[in-house]
Amino acid sequence: MAKHFMRIRDLGVDGAWQMLRRAKEMKDTRFRGHCMDGKVAALIFEKASTRTRMSFELAVRHLGGSTVFMTPNESQLGRSEPLRDTARVLSRYVDCLIVRTFGQERLDELAAYGSIPVVNALTDQGHPCQIMADLLTIYERTPDFSKLRIAWIGDGNNMADSWIEAASVFPFELTIASPEGYEPSRALIDEAVKAGANISLSHDPFEAARGANYVNTDVWASMGQESEQIERMKAFKKFCVDSALMATAAPDAKFLHCLPAHRGEEVTEEVIEGPASIVWDEAENRMHVQTAILEWVFSN
Ligand code: CP
Ligand code: NVA
Repeated sequence: MAKHFMRIRDLGVDGAWQMLRRAKEMKDTRFRGHCMDGKVAALIFEKASTRTRMSFELAVRHLGGSTVFMTPNESQLGRSEPLRDTARVLSRYVDCLIVRTFGQERLDELAAYGSIPVVNALTDQGHPCQIMADLLTIYERTPDFSKLRIAWIGDGNNMADSWIEAASVFPFELTIASPEGYEPSRALIDEAVKAGANISLSHDPFEAARGANYVNTDVWASMGQESEQIERMKAFKKFCVDSALMATAAPDAKFLHCLPAHRGEEVTEEVIEGPASIVWDEAENRMHVQTAILEWVFSN
């Protein structure tokens, strides 16, 4: 059975902590390994990417493997060849699929019909690699998660979904503020709370940010939602992470953003360029976490 990395909760509590610690060790030792010697990963990206593509390309090289990159524009994927056929063909060529796509069901189809590991490099429903990197960035500063409050300000999108999942695995408190109509999935929250997550929801960014140790946001219109940009700008205008919002957080609170950021929309220039911002460490950590994810995928 191929080992897939689809969701954080699939790792379980011990597995998720182990992956974080391993990523930290890899970062500290500038780890270079051999678990992908002679192996090839296909990166199938149906959406744009800077960090995820580059960090996976580099992580594969750090483990001794190589990559091929494929987009719908230059392949039969863009001409409606079924994913299940793509999965079966590529399984005979390469050793792993690293996939950025739209609905999670597209990832599930690749995993179901292929015979090699599938790694979730972002779907409309989650961005687990990013959240693991965010958690590594937090872990480096506050290794004890049990006293942490993490605030999510903005869209109930793929990032929010993965934070909710992470809250069911790691013992931090998650406070979420989204505009009405843009809340994260109720079913996902209920499921996480049932699994032990401490999550509170509101429509007031100041309430969610109050006392938070980490304040996290993301773009107002995700990839694939470009046509909603104007209405979203209106709905989200009170959800900009600015200095006033950061001032309601804990005294030494830090600011996280998966990037790319839209300065003047979800975050001000002052906050993202200011002393609370740890977004460059966060972006660097993508590479160390991807290396740990791939090592996990190729371990027994
Ligand atoms: N944060 C993130 O996933 O960035 P990219 O879209 O550049 O990969
Ligand atoms: N929510 C954003 C994340 C980008 C890394 C998107 O899906 O476009």
